[in-house]
Amino acid sequence: MCGIVGYIGKKPAAPIILEGLSKLEYRGYDSAGMAVFDGEKIQIKKSVGRLKVLEELTHDGATMPGVIGIGHTRWATHGAPSDVNSHPHYNEKETIAVVHNGIIENYLPLKEKMISKGYKFTSDTDTEVLAHLIDYYYKGNPLEAITKVMHRVQGSYALGIMFAEHPDQIFAVRKDSPLIVGQNEDGCFIASDVPAILKYTRKVYFIQNQEVVRLRADHMHFYTVDEEEITKEPVNIEWDADAAEKGGYEHFMLKEMYEQPKTVTDTLMPRIKDGDIVIEELGMSDDEIKAIRKVHIVACGSAYHVGVTAKYVIEGIARIPVEVDVASEFRYRNPILEEGAMVIVISQSGETADTLAALRESQQLGYKVLGIVNVVGSSIAREADNVMYTWAGPEIAVATTKAYSAQLVAIYLLAMKFAKVKGTISDSDFTAMLKDLKRLPDQIEMLLSNKERIQRFANRYIGAKDVFFIGRGIDYAISMEGSLKLKEISYIHSEAYAAGELKHGTISLIEKDTLVAAVATQDNLFQKTLSNMVEVKARGAFVLAVTNAGNTDIEKAADYVIYIPRTNPYFANSLAIIPLQLFGYYVAVGKGCDVDKPRNLAKSVTVE
Ligand code: G6P
Repeated sequence: MCGIVGYIGKKPAAPIILEGLSKLEYRGYDSAGMAVFDGEKIQIKKSVGRLKVLEELTHDGATMPGVIGIGHTRWATHGAPSDVNSHPHYNEKETIAVVHNGIIENYLPLKEKMISKGYKFTSDTDTEVLAHLIDYYYKGNPLEAITKVMHRVQGSYALGIMFAEHPDQIFAVRKDSPLIVGQNEDGCFIASDVPAILKYTRKVYFIQNQEVVRLRADHMHFYTVDEEEITKEPVNIEWDADAAEKGGYEHFMLKEMYEQPKTVTDTLMPRIKDGDIVIEELGMSDDEIKAIRKVHIVACGSAYHVGVTAKYVIEGIARIPVEVDVASEFRYRNPILEEGAMVIVISQSGETADTLAALRESQQLGYKVLGIVNVVGSSIAREADNVMYTWAGPEIAVATTKAYSAQLVAIYLLAMKFAKVKGTISDSDFTAMLKDLKRLPDQIEMLLSNKERIQRFANRYIGAKDVFFIGRGIDYAISMEGSLKLKEISYIHSEAYAAGELKHGTISLIEKDTLVAAVATQDNLFQKTLSNMVEVKARGAFVLAVTNAGNTDIEKAADYVIYIPRTNPYFANSLAIIPLQLFGYYVAVGKGCDVDKPRNLAKSVTVE
């Protein structure tokens, strides 16, 4: 994971690097560091802890003068978070500095080889081997040394590199970890992601695998791994720079929850035209849609939970069998993709290593992949055969909310489109569903405006040790996401169970006052879930229920009820998740947790 930033130009580099890193902390935040060329040598300052430690250490960059530098915010893979393991890493003479995002898989044999040649290592990282290897191959030509190293190392890397002997240039290198470069009249920039440099330029270049960029103060040159120069076209980033700022909210997560009505609207409305659903990016004719025999959905984390919902929705409306896999499982289970299979990968970042690998695996097996992706120009967006963007804008909080909601409605659109083309839905049902879809943003808004009630309830549970979420069908998928939201930001142990499965073991964990959150939005399953609620209540559980307005029967079995507006049952996820997001958020705030940057996590998981 990790975030990297680099700058070369007319302005002091350190403040620009610190500012950029602050936008990348979502990628990792256990330590941070910077290297700046001060006119004579490369100075490095680095420290375990959040970026603010580095800011204090360098007096907001003032103690690191110079106009050329690279910086890093870390999510530890090899070597615990510590000062010495923080990036940048030097060669022994301190003339070459490297920052790295990714994993060098063959670093151990390379390290042994370098040690046998007399190189001394000071850290436990895989990255340090790069600094020494570049030193080993460096004979005065930085590009030559870098490309030789690229031929030797295996794994993933986005790198920022500087050489004391070449203080008029810095280098950016990429393989399988994201990297962009940009330029304005004051200089050139390297970054792991667009928000880090959006304040300075909207003109960015996406670096492809195994490409190298030489950045000077006023121009950039692009090369292949064989040192051949190539040309690239810039992409103009349309995002609103304010979208990556907190804008008065206490946390990005709260702001992003409040953006959900907009992101749902932005993802839905451009694809609803004249009473129909038009998904041009799908790249499939009606005949091709009719030929789909099975849909495979592959994703990680919350995006996987969207996949679980998608199974119920696509199977229910379009009557196409759906198989859903966690990407880290799919890629190694030798999946069987039959004739007529369609693969959909879902990813906010478009950089999740396992999801990207699953995409490639499917393509190698000869199948086309549709990516449902948020980040424009990300690896999955570039490599998928077709891309359906979720227009959620930059999402900064590690725990996803608005991108998840946008992914859900993208799935509803797909399911309805498939159903319409296949004739598994009547015209009147289709029209009624479209109407319900369009009402979702206002209904989400209404649920968000009720946040105080959930906040009061959440405050009672900040001391909870275990929380269980139960539901059936789509309500089970909602429970999975509700449980993940709570555990990832509040550190309270929680599990989601298919309500009917409780009796096969988990019910033995229910004690007096154990909180059980029951989701019961599906009318056909309501009585069944109600019975399960009664069962846990009889064993002392405190039952929180989320159900549709009007289902007052539930009050017999629940201690606290949150009602959501009525919608088509297939869309209930979009509404029921809102109070559960708020619940997780307010429990975490009540406990004093770092909501936007929960411990041990990172937003963009670019390692396996
Ligand atoms: C991380 C994030 C989750 C996200 C998952 C998949 O775990 O914290 O919020 O759902 O990665 O990420 P992706 O970018 O592929 O959606």
